[in-house]
Amino acid sequence: MKGQKSKRLLAALMSASMGIAAVPAAFSVSAAETADSEGKVVFSLDFEDGDVSMFTNRGENDTTEISVSDEASVSGSKSLLASGRSKDWNGPAFRLDDKLEPFTEYYISAKVKGRYYTGATFSFQYTNADGETKYSNLVQNLSGSDWMSVENVKVSFTDEMTGVYVYFEGGQDDLFIDDFVVTEAPSVEIEQDIPGLKDVFANDFKIGTAFTPSGLSSKPTMALVEKHFSGSITAGNEMKPDAVLNQAACQAYFEETGDDTVPQVGFSAAKPLLNYCRDNNIPVRIHTLVWHSQTPDWFFKEGYSNDGEWVSKEKMLKRMENYIKAYFETLTELYPTIDFYACDVVNEAWTDQGTPRQPGEQGSSGSEQSAWVQVFGDNSFIEPAFEFAREYAPKGCKLYYNDYNEYMDGKMNVIIEMANGLKEKGLIDGIGMQSHLDARQSLDAAFPSVSMYNKALDKYSKLGLDIQITELDVTTPENPTEADFKVQADYYKGIWDAIYAHKDSISAVVLWGITDDGSWRANKSPLLFDADYKAKPAYYSIIEGREVPPIVDPGKIKYGDANCNGEVRLNDAVLIMQAIGNPDVYGVNGSDETHITEKGIINGDVANTGDGLTNADALAIQEYLINLIDSLPKK
Ligand code: XIL
Repeated sequence: MKGQKSKRLLAALMSASMGIAAVPAAFSVSAAETADSEGKVVFSLDFEDGDVSMFTNRGENDTTEISVSDEASVSGSKSLLASGRSKDWNGPAFRLDDKLEPFTEYYISAKVKGRYYTGATFSFQYTNADGETKYSNLVQNLSGSDWMSVENVKVSFTDEMTGVYVYFEGGQDDLFIDDFVVTEAPSVEIEQDIPGLKDVFANDFKIGTAFTPSGLSSKPTMALVEKHFSGSITAGNEMKPDAVLNQAACQAYFEETGDDTVPQVGFSAAKPLLNYCRDNNIPVRIHTLVWHSQTPDWFFKEGYSNDGEWVSKEKMLKRMENYIKAYFETLTELYPTIDFYACDVVNEAWTDQGTPRQPGEQGSSGSEQSAWVQVFGDNSFIEPAFEFAREYAPKGCKLYYNDYNEYMDGKMNVIIEMANGLKEKGLIDGIGMQSHLDARQSLDAAFPSVSMYNKALDKYSKLGLDIQITELDVTTPENPTEADFKVQADYYKGIWDAIYAHKDSISAVVLWGITDDGSWRANKSPLLFDADYKAKPAYYSIIEGREVPPIVDPGKIKYGDANCNGEVRLNDAVLIMQAIGNPDVYGVNGSDETHITEKGIINGDVANTGDGLTNADALAIQEYLINLIDSLPKK
């Protein structure tokens, strides 16, 4: 690959197939512009041997017949023929999940042709953990009368997805396919010889990132997460109201019980990501409960129906309470061991001028209106949201108000006023500064200026609440030059220094993404790593002059908790003895409670601290548990 990794383009996720509205693929589907030549070829089908058995039609109502044909070909003299198609959605399909590995990126290339002038689409389908089948289009507008190519279309899937297919559809013409090639994306090593960000700042604050489940299939992306960002994970989209609220289930519950104040929730979209956090002991920031955006309008409507009347404020309060309750209860029931340490209870409720948003449906003109304001008349929904969150959030989960442009005077003043009020009532723990910043062409032009950002940090830190930097990214101009990356690096450094100067008030710094090409603002390269997984000047600028500290902050060690489950119990002593006696099985090669981890070694080293794990440590834990000694480490 050597620096010329093909640019990834997000595939358009558009039209409907099979008469069901298309939804964004929960998993990665993107088209690469040029071939990645070094990938391993997994399947290369030219159908010259007459074998078309890897293709099927799309199920019982699909009349497509698959055969081998010598009427047309690109290479050799044969191709696959899909004939007898009686609906647009009928077509030849190639199943992925019974032949390929989950969490792995593949490129698919193929040639396709209609018998006559034809418009075809190359599409993707899968069934999720809830049994719902989802569809998306990978390549559209394949139209013409000659052979057409799809090239290096990137696909991947999780282990939660079944019935994963790619297929050609569109029109009812016969379709020929030839030279169908599946290549595994070449493996790329990340730079291991640079310090991990989470380690450099281990004594200061958690370092985290946001990612979406598609990141899980990119091994180098996940290697970056593990090395730099495993202090905290936020779901980029999958824990927002529109991903969690289930309209069909809400309506079904209403029909069954007559009660339309008990919203039904589920976490299937976030499942792969949450499984990853659970298996790797990564704390999770919950983003977000109450927001005007990415929240369905039907949530605020009678009968949970798209075109119902707005519900009353009283009803919405009940819905809000039951939704927040169900959100936390479902999450902690599914993931009892995850440390949900922070939650954005309310997101983006104030305008830059410090007023509530305009009332309205999400899409009524732009997407700035708030259905919350529509129903409540003003921002009086904020306080009950915090009350309910306080009541139902798991122990240890801190509650934040989160916003962007949080350094603009109007917004900042109103946030401070609101936070003071909530603080008096014990309802809020911190402010989330999203920090979507813009470096522009020079430090003078950057917005906000470093001093403006620093001033905001000063003000928020005086609140006596925690601060988290929740979505940090810094855009460059489009098509950035080296000079632009230098400005970006200098600006990142300025911002980072301001953050560092306030570190006593800041418990986490979360980047909004990992590599530039995966960012929501990809065209402005806002992150610390580039599309080739290489650290950018911005990365070096924020660690400049800093070293990995030798020990973790003693305050963060939980002495005795060798299995890192948050408690000191007899099984911590047992795990230490197992790890000593049978390191192959219980040693540092897993990350659940039945394996010792690096952190577990530090936590467990409670007798003669500094000598690693010994039987004396297991004994000291037992002494502590039966109250022979008062505290750990043993003096
Ligand atoms: C963004 C996601 O990154 C995008 O994928 C999505 O299309 C829109 O939302 N403020 C927030 C985040 O609080 O939830 C937003 O995330 C970015 C702005």
